[in-house]
Amino acid sequence: MALKNGQVASLSWLQEADLGEVVAAVNTVIHEDKYLLMDCQITDLEAELSWFRQSAESGMRYLIARVNGKVIGGASLIPFKGKRAHIAEFGVYILKSHRNLGLGTIFLKEFIEVATENRFQIIQLSTFSTNRRALHVYKKCGFRKCGKLSRDIKFGDGTYTDRILMELLLPRKRSAGE
Ligand SMILES: CC(C)(COP(=O)(O)OP(=O)(O)OC[C@H]1O[C@@H](n2cnc3c(N)ncnc32)[C@H](O)[C@@H]1OP(=O)(O)O)[C@@H](O)C(=O)NCCC(=O)NCCS
Repeated sequence: MALKNGQVASLSWLQEADLGEVVAAVNTVIHEDKYLLMDCQITDLEAELSWFRQSAESGMRYLIARVNGKVIGGASLIPFKGKRAHIAEFGVYILKSHRNLGLGTIFLKEFIEVATENRFQIIQLSTFSTNRRALHVYKKCGFRKCGKLSRDIKFGDGTYTDRILMELLLPRKRSAGE
């Protein structure tokens, strides 16, 4: 996949062997403390490995992007269970060095296709109202705002932000013979 700066990003499904690099990448975004719900850096690789195995078994799809072999971002689609099993939740992070180059849009388009192919009916996500870029990309890809949790997030500096809930209703894929 060509990025807007001319670099080529290769996408692949997350494997256990990638976990160390992926955790390092996520930790840098957690450290920025502006975009993700996660507060603490991930330090327990064993716990991460069991989370990955359990999530993969429950149907999680997780793509990572590499440029020149280095992990620069990842995105996931995690199905809910039981009465909400027709819904999956989308999450994404890209390193600061590689934002605004089209990768977030590439990830979203890819996962909308994956979700449709896998017959999910709805993709849900949430983002901080201060994250204007994320809101723009989600809206551009067809998501609509469906709720707001007021002052849901309080940052370390004492300021608050609302959390915006968004959804994308997917077209129903017909099965053979329908
Ligand atoms: C949010 C994120 C996934 C978007 O991915 P990205 O690769 O940077 O975004 P893209 O390059 O695909 O698209 C950026 C778009 O946002 C626009 N944009 C950039 N900054 C913006 C801003 N402050 N306000 C509005 N739009 C903005 C760009 O002009 C571009 O618009 P276009 O596609 O219409 O030309 C990525 O920036 C990221 O990971 N950020 C940090 C972590 C994060 O926020 N994760 C999501 C938590 S919900």
